[in-house]
Amino acid sequence: MSDRLFIFDTTLRDGEQVPGCQLNTVEKIQIAKQLEALGVDIIEAGFPISSPGDFQSVIEISKAVTWPTICALARAVQKDIDVAAEALKYAKHKRIHTGIGTSEQHIRYKFNSNQDEILERAVAAVKYARRYVDDVEFYAEDAGRTDNVYLARVVESVIKAGATVVNIPDTTGYCLPEEYGEKIRFLKEHVDGIDKIILSTHCHNDLGMATANTMNGILNGARQVEVTINGIGERAGNTSLEEIAMIFRSHHELNIDTNINTKKIYSTSRMVSSLMNMPIQPNKAIVGKNAFAHSSGIHQDGMLKNTSTYEIIDPKEVGIDDCAIVLTARSGRAALKHRLHVLGIEMTQEILDKVYEDFLKLADKKKDITDDDVLVLAGADRNVNHHIKLEYLQVTSGVGVRSVASLGLNISGEQFEAAATGNGPVDAAIKAVKQIIRRQMTLKEFTIQAISKGSDDVGKVHMQVEYNGQIFYGFGANTDIIAASVEAFIDCINKFRH
Ligand code: KIV
Ligand code: ZN
Repeated sequence: MSDRLFIFDTTLRDGEQVPGCQLNTVEKIQIAKQLEALGVDIIEAGFPISSPGDFQSVIEISKAVTWPTICALARAVQKDIDVAAEALKYAKHKRIHTGIGTSEQHIRYKFNSNQDEILERAVAAVKYARRYVDDVEFYAEDAGRTDNVYLARVVESVIKAGATVVNIPDTTGYCLPEEYGEKIRFLKEHVDGIDKIILSTHCHNDLGMATANTMNGILNGARQVEVTINGIGERAGNTSLEEIAMIFRSHHELNIDTNINTKKIYSTSRMVSSLMNMPIQPNKAIVGKNAFAHSSGIHQDGMLKNTSTYEIIDPKEVGIDDCAIVLTARSGRAALKHRLHVLGIEMTQEILDKVYEDFLKLADKKKDITDDDVLVLAGADRNVNHHIKLEYLQVTSGVGVRSVASLGLNISGEQFEAAATGNGPVDAAIKAVKQIIRRQMTLKEFTIQAISKGSDDVGKVHMQVEYNGQIFYGFGANTDIIAASVEAFIDCINKFRH
């Protein structure tokens, strides 16, 4: 019988900390559902105390996802734990992930404290979190640089306090693979009660050793890995999920299995890259554009004779379908449905019809429709139930003149029109919307992303609007960036509770 390795995905927490990769709640839900389909065991959905947006996302993901455990991060501080527990209230299976820095550097410079005091705070946090949930994971931040004897004392104490999982992060990506494996073995051999809990790896890639360190952790007894899709994460990123999953799929002699449906790896990777606007390096293992491309003559010759000469993984095993059809204005519904399926998106016939209509409109403007375009089109169905819709928009702008926008809105079937001038076309258009929707609201954040290359591409706009003390997220996508901005603004307003 093989051993089970638990996959803890932190794309939506550690991965999402990357500047410029922030997702809105709708996108986080889309990724969380994809992670569920991929077969991850635990989804770290966010750090609820860090922002109202994170708090709300943990709530919404908890409602949207059924069988994986939903985990929320909290420092070893009562208020953090209270807020994490509140955010998890709808989760069917819940876990609080609390912890504190244990290395000399953290104890001395971050906390101005000492080992005994930190140990007490760790124990208190775990006990406090156990008042809310049965499943508490403790992280010893910077465990990679923590003295093993002290680390063992901390781990033993938090186990006694009720921790069910103990995470040993190499926060700075400093450890050598042997050193990290040895750390896990040391804990396995020196901590009372270690067999009652699961030891977890959490490796960063600063020196390019995250996967090697994670592997050594597993080979020395860890049975949970903390990973992200495409290895995204702060600085050089985290261990990538797809690498770990495919290592165990390829090396049966290790006798370790995960629950990952590897055929969903490619679609998940594309979805995360597209929604986070984070391109994948072409030579990235498993999911890079060149990961299965054989260009040298010798390799091509060998491949034609037998694929096993140069290929250790069949690309189909990770869901790469090499007969991908290029989508153009002449593609039918079936081709679009197939592409959506490859990208991990299933939809009802009714929604597919609507997406297909939008697809044809876009295909009239653009020659080839990329996977990124398809992902945006698929997301557009969330506007279907909007009671405020943009009917038309006309803008004039130029250098040395004030911009003028006139637009029409359809609000629950009634037509409204307005015109306004502004400091640029977006400002003018938003002022025109505000003339119709007379509410006290403030634009808090406005991000424009181009999603691939050409000047005819679809631009994506993310917005945050504050209304009645609450933040609302909006999204718009259009080949016309002004229209995308107005759509994003209207998307926010549609979410106000009237
Ligand atoms: O890298 C790290 O130490 C972390 C912890 C908060 C788990 O992300
Ligand atoms: Zn981390």
